[in-house]
Amino acid sequence: MSKYIIEGGKRLVGEVSISGAKNSVLPILAATVLNNNINTIFNVPEIIDLKVMIKILSAVGCKVNKLDDIVTVDSRTLDTVRIPEELVREMRSSIILMGAMLSRCQEVEVSYPGGCEIGPRPIDFHLKALKELGAEIEESHGFIYCKGKNLKGADIQLDYPSVGATENIMLASIKAKGTTIIRNAAKEPEIIDLQNYLNAMGCKIYGAGTSIIRIDGVNHLNSVEHTIIPDRIVAGTYMIASGITGGEIVLKNIEVDHIQSIIAKLREAGCLIYNNCTNLKIIGPKRVTPIESLQTIPYPGFPTDMQAQIMSLLTIANGTSIITETIFENRFKHVPELVRMGANIKTVGNVAIVKGVKELTGAKVTAKDLRGGASLLLSGLAAKGTTIIENIYHMDRGYEKLEENFTLIGAKIDRFD
Ligand code: UD1
Repeated sequence: MSKYIIEGGKRLVGEVSISGAKNSVLPILAATVLNNNINTIFNVPEIIDLKVMIKILSAVGCKVNKLDDIVTVDSRTLDTVRIPEELVREMRSSIILMGAMLSRCQEVEVSYPGGCEIGPRPIDFHLKALKELGAEIEESHGFIYCKGKNLKGADIQLDYPSVGATENIMLASIKAKGTTIIRNAAKEPEIIDLQNYLNAMGCKIYGAGTSIIRIDGVNHLNSVEHTIIPDRIVAGTYMIASGITGGEIVLKNIEVDHIQSIIAKLREAGCLIYNNCTNLKIIGPKRVTPIESLQTIPYPGFPTDMQAQIMSLLTIANGTSIITETIFENRFKHVPELVRMGANIKTVGNVAIVKGVKELTGAKVTAKDLRGGASLLLSGLAAKGTTIIENIYHMDRGYEKLEENFTLIGAKIDRFD
């Protein structure tokens, strides 16, 4: 079982270049099946979730090539509507292929993704919306069979601005007859990236980044080249690495607009942050200031994908912070692990009360999910002594070159596979 061994207490100083966004590249790769043509995607991150998505595209017959951070997908050879069950189980977000395959093949068969490590994560919004577009959906024995020969544009009201449902509706309605409207759509930057990619392919989508998105159905789609936006969660994670070690880190290849909510909370915590459009310098404080109230909220609010990492920072604040997780119901699995490292955290339902301690101490801990794992790594970097983190495959899903990057800026971190 792979693990990290970290000698904590080193001040991190140096530059880190931020990779392309996981949550952009996955839906965009799913969208490559749409055009029956060649797609070239640049700035692709080297992460496990990408490998799984490439395996799925290959399994449905696409020809996929990867050279460094460039992936080409030729979807002319697609030859099946079945998405392999074991791959859907490996990566829940492969459910995004449902909308894309439905557009391309008028049918798709996919296994039910089931729960995951941060809660049950249902897909009822996705299925309801696809039905509203005219798809026939049958669910049996853990599989979803979806048929949609004559999809028609519809006016779809989401009960919640779900990222995945917004993306699935965009993908499913590309060729639907007439106009589709998504109301209460998710506004995340990754939705805008998907719109830009699809429009470069010849789609007619307007409004991504706002809560109303309009999709006018089209018939013809061309080949496309596209560069993935920088990963705002990876950027936020390195920002906290600087904050928690009292370090001085410069981030390159970032989109400052996308991380404003993180910048605001880290300034509240006492970090000094300077930026121009593509670079950002973050200097950690001598002692972290507590944050009275922090809630995770859909974009442009503070991201749930940064909740665990900022909790790590606040464990060593000079006072008490209160964190409310409003998006996922089971996203505090890192808490008992942080407590093993000396943190003082109590949870009541979806609220965590974090009483800052003077310092954390190294311990043997286990990563339970991707971002929770990142929070343990950050705490290990700041803690006194040695931290051993087990199950680090969770982090491989979403962070590229983690140990190399941290070593380059002064961390003592070793990986054992
Ligand atoms: C995406 C991101 C994930 C991020 C999350 C919230 C990707 C690949 N993943 O996940 O990193 O943490 O957005 O920003 O982009 N819900 C339902 N029914 C549905 C769909 C969602 O009840 O049909 C609920 C979920 O359980 C959750 C909330 O809506 O409580 C938000 O989920 P959603 O925005 O859909 O998250 P994902 O797209 O799965």
